[in-house]
Amino acid sequence: MPPRKIIIDTDPGQDDAVAILLALASPEDMDVLGITAVAGNVPLELTQKNARIVCELAGKTDVPVFAGCDRPMGRQLVTAEHVHGKTGLDGPSLPDPTMRLQDQHAVDFIIETLRREDAGTVTLCVLGPLTNIATAFQKAPDVIERVQQIVLMGGAYFEVGNITPTAEFNIYVDPEAAEITFKSGIDIVIMPLDVTHKALVTQPRNDAFRDLGTPSGIAVAQMTDFFERFDKEKYGSSGAPLHDPCVTAYLIAPELFSGRHINVEIETQSDLTRGMTVADWWGVTDRPANATFIGDLDADGFFALLVERIGRL
Ligand code: RIB
Ligand code: CA
Repeated sequence: MPPRKIIIDTDPGQDDAVAILLALASPEDMDVLGITAVAGNVPLELTQKNARIVCELAGKTDVPVFAGCDRPMGRQLVTAEHVHGKTGLDGPSLPDPTMRLQDQHAVDFIIETLRREDAGTVTLCVLGPLTNIATAFQKAPDVIERVQQIVLMGGAYFEVGNITPTAEFNIYVDPEAAEITFKSGIDIVIMPLDVTHKALVTQPRNDAFRDLGTPSGIAVAQMTDFFERFDKEKYGSSGAPLHDPCVTAYLIAPELFSGRHINVEIETQSDLTRGMTVADWWGVTDRPANATFIGDLDADGFFALLVERIGRL
């Protein structure tokens, strides 16, 4: 089986960084055509910088990094420095990047790549707000049917929200972009908080990263040490939830995950429930299924994969 061609759309973010490292460490599974940064956890000028920092940490400076949208499609940007720190990659002390940022806008890279590659052969791995993706679909509707699959981190149902009582951050930041994406007809796999809150970096798991003794392993341990304080304080959880690596791990080992193919709609009208993913888990409506909503994972298998692959870098 040849490696899947992917574009990683991201707002690094410590958990994004781990997801990117996993992808870059897995060339037999993924051919990373490019990394497109979007405003989210921190403003765009930091997410595009952090994406390059992560590529250099992995020693993969040949992967092109593009800057995309600096704000949501129709709303003010909401960021999450309270979780990720002012740089978005607080924890390790990593050098500023020397690899260059591509001149092309990320949205144009996504469009151009989908038009160039054979239809149905490029998967979009989305780790932040869906602004770049939906903007590309609006600017070039012809590329929608050319997407092989979208695997995204976002949303919540049983786990409810993390930025509001009802909404998960990525969907909350740009609900209009999420609505466009979920109505696109593309095969979507969604990694909501329902599953990512089961992927916790407990102390033994953090130790396993640190015990790799490599720059990437130590940096991942330092990132999750920093990142966990918010969730430990808020939820009393036993470690940081590794949200975004669920996306790239799914492409390597889908058997680690389980869920249902259901209807998911996005709330865009109400201020109270803006960005809620209304997931018809129990099939109580006749709305057509449009996403595979992942609810569970083999956490030990997930972390064993992460440690093995990141240990390669
Ligand atoms: O709600 C968690 C998501 O929001 C993750 O992708 C995290 O990186 C932030 O973007
Ligand atoms: Ca993210």
